[in-house]
Amino acid sequence: MKRIVALLFASLVAGSAAAQAVKIGVVNTFSGPNASFGELGDKAMKLYMKLHANELPAGVKLELVTRDDGGPNPDKAKQLAQELIVRDKVSLVTGAVFTPNALAIAPLATEAKIPFLVINAGTSVVTTRSPYIVRDSFTLWQSSYPLGQWAAKQDMKKAYTLVSDYAPGFDSEEAFTKGFTQAGGTIVGSARVPLKDPDFVPFVQRAKDAKPDVLFIFAPSGKQATAVMKAYGDLGLAAAGIRLIGPQDITTDEELPNMGDAPLGVVTAGGYSEAATRPQNQAFVAAWKRDYGANSHTNFMAASAWDGMAAIFAAIKAQNGKVDPDKTMQILAGWKNPDSPRGPVEIDAQTRDVIQNIYIRKVERQGDHLANVEFETIPQVKDPWKVLNPQ
Ligand code: PHB
Repeated sequence: MKRIVALLFASLVAGSAAAQAVKIGVVNTFSGPNASFGELGDKAMKLYMKLHANELPAGVKLELVTRDDGGPNPDKAKQLAQELIVRDKVSLVTGAVFTPNALAIAPLATEAKIPFLVINAGTSVVTTRSPYIVRDSFTLWQSSYPLGQWAAKQDMKKAYTLVSDYAPGFDSEEAFTKGFTQAGGTIVGSARVPLKDPDFVPFVQRAKDAKPDVLFIFAPSGKQATAVMKAYGDLGLAAAGIRLIGPQDITTDEELPNMGDAPLGVVTAGGYSEAATRPQNQAFVAAWKRDYGANSHTNFMAASAWDGMAAIFAAIKAQNGKVDPDKTMQILAGWKNPDSPRGPVEIDAQTRDVIQNIYIRKVERQGDHLANVEFETIPQVKDPWKVLNPQ
């Protein structure tokens, strides 16, 4: 009898634990030239889950259901999100490194009333495409607009802009141009490079020929950033007195070791640097290296995936293991973390977009490696596009 009761009890406990499994759907890029993006996000989310597992309500288990969109492929991303929602019955969708993919998933979030936490895609308009979208990463306006203002206040009066030919490129071009010209600078030329398999050399050569004081570039981080830097170094722009600046994507921390010396002196704007000396960042980087090895690097995508998982934990904890869509949205939109590796971060309750410090950083040599060293802080920046274009 005792044994039967014990067995019954065990199966009840197992049953209730299973009922408490919370499934999170992840659509991110794990293959192709941008495979590192998905890997960085995945490592960050899993590291957060491991280090904070004991904070979840008793019996609640978090399960990541991960899918590979292969890059900027909106149809594929939409199909994967649809399957995650309908077949796998996830409670929340996250990921979306590429803007076109985020835009394709947006109507599904609305239709199914599924919270969609964007942990990268940086075009301003993304959050306006569904009331079920919340973003904790960044917007290109958030970095490129203040960078334009900063540059014009230095000895840089003539700029050339070169951006990737898709939505975040258009945002960064418009934002930089506005910030730079409002502060007295002049744009002497601009060009757009294809998103897929770009050859930066002829574009950077044309920019050099226009003889600007500064070349502003946005391209997706990862291998494209390294290709940008190679073209800048090989074509001798620094020697010709042409500075290079851009959002944090072009000196992304995990690619700095592959860029040689070309990025030395490059100034960028963004919310995260692996070299930041904030204790909460040093703890994050130390935990990362302990688990993934001394040569493995964090970057801005890892930082927002880490914070995204912290926000998901907050929502699950507040609902004692349940994930009601509307309640979850209420918790996520308004979520704050004063101790993010990025410094204080919060989600604006009204726009559901991130508010964070933007750091102006310069690439410097630190010992045997290059680092994005923060030297100026613009505190708690709201997406300037939304400030300038209230909905
Ligand atoms: C985007 O598609 O929004 C995107 C992709 C890669 C980046 C930044 C933005 O580095």
